[in-house]
Amino acid sequence: MGRLIVVSNRVATPTETKGSAGGLAVGVFGALKDAGGVWFGWSGDVVSETVANAGPTLEQDGAVTFATVGLTRKDYDQYYRGFSNATLWPVFHYRNDLARYEREEYAGYRRVNAWLAHKLIRLLEPDDVIWIHDYHLIPFAEALRNEGITNRIGFFLHIPFPAPQILLNIPPHEELVKSLSCYDLLGFQTATDQLAFHDYVTRHARGTVSADGLVEAFGRKLRTGVYRIGVFPDEIAEQAKRYESRQHVLELKQSLEGRKLIMSVDRLDYSKGLVERFRAFEQLLERSPEWRGNVTLVQIAPPTRSDVATYQKIRQDLEYEAGRINGRYSGLDYTPIRYLNQQYDRWKLMSLFRESQIGFVTPLHDGMNLVAKEYVAAQNPDDPGVLVLSIFAGAAAELSGALLVNPHDAIGMCDALQRALQMPLDARQRRHEINMAALRKNDLGVWRDSFLSDLRSVPVQQTGTGGGR
Ligand code: G6P
Repeated sequence: MGRLIVVSNRVATPTETKGSAGGLAVGVFGALKDAGGVWFGWSGDVVSETVANAGPTLEQDGAVTFATVGLTRKDYDQYYRGFSNATLWPVFHYRNDLARYEREEYAGYRRVNAWLAHKLIRLLEPDDVIWIHDYHLIPFAEALRNEGITNRIGFFLHIPFPAPQILLNIPPHEELVKSLSCYDLLGFQTATDQLAFHDYVTRHARGTVSADGLVEAFGRKLRTGVYRIGVFPDEIAEQAKRYESRQHVLELKQSLEGRKLIMSVDRLDYSKGLVERFRAFEQLLERSPEWRGNVTLVQIAPPTRSDVATYQKIRQDLEYEAGRINGRYSGLDYTPIRYLNQQYDRWKLMSLFRESQIGFVTPLHDGMNLVAKEYVAAQNPDDPGVLVLSIFAGAAAELSGALLVNPHDAIGMCDALQRALQMPLDARQRRHEINMAALRKNDLGVWRDSFLSDLRSVPVQQTGTGGGR
């Protein structure tokens, strides 16, 4: 078996892969350890041109090499802050209204991908299998193919793939899909994302999709598949229980004075539906006065990408809404929304989830949403909380024990909260069992192993970047 090469925009540190880091870090590191290989990507630092060109910096941990490079200010601005997070991210989350398109940023995005690919080449061996992650790196395989690399290369998209009519808003949409055709295997979170890609290929790229899932486009053959990212539910359950008697949990319990607790945790991102969520909670207090003073929403939202204008705006909007709602419904000893812009240790969060009666997860669009899965896994099976989940989270396709809501319907969400708050124990347990069974059936290991086994079995193509249309 060849080594595994993982490429992602951010690379976990060796310590993070062993601690409480979530999703990708734990899942991918397991595979790297087994096969041996390299995890390559951006160090997270903005550096001078000399330092950037001197990279990658290598750190060895057993059979795994962590290889990272810094980005210059210009590369960071054009590739990360610009095209990745001000064009691709909003459009792929159906927020075309928040997207901008700048040719220089797009050129920078392609330039950085080619530069990164070039940096990786000297670390590659002939039978290495290469696994690229997420929207920052769409042109990565094309850049490698341009340098003659014929290894098997797979790509997993962690975020939604938009319907063609949405994707068409990005002027170089065709170049992006052509770049995707340079992979051997494309993995999506849901069947909806996969279908959207097939739809683009057949309707806009004059390609074909056969009944057994073989895609032919831009002179290349590739496979696509649905690989739902998961968690390790039993490990989360164990850690949540282990942490439940710690100081932070006791303090929270004491401060609630017997009130019901609704928990939400998200990066402070406009795709997460935070304003809509606050308004739904306001509806609960407005329409059911008996809950005033008796239920608290804890929203943990660590700031992210705060140098992108749209993220500054969502932060302001949310601060305004939290202040407005709290001003209206607080008492001298009661604050309905506790809004925290802080990063918390993952196991601490799991223990807070375990204390709560509701996990309120209502993104407007989300690839999978691992918080929803973590919430379920962290519950006490003897007295589980209820997951109230947006139909637009990828996880909704699997967690049929959740109460599903449309995040644009404040009253519908308020009704679901009401229902969850009053749900009898046996119904909560039944829903929890259904959700846990889904998590165990398709855990993080299944996601990783099925993608890699499919990638390792695709035939190697000797062609480069395909021949156009
Ligand atoms: C999402 C993306 C990831 C990204 C993460 C954090 O989950 O799918 O690729 O790493 O957000 O975003 P950041 O911009 O801080 O890396």
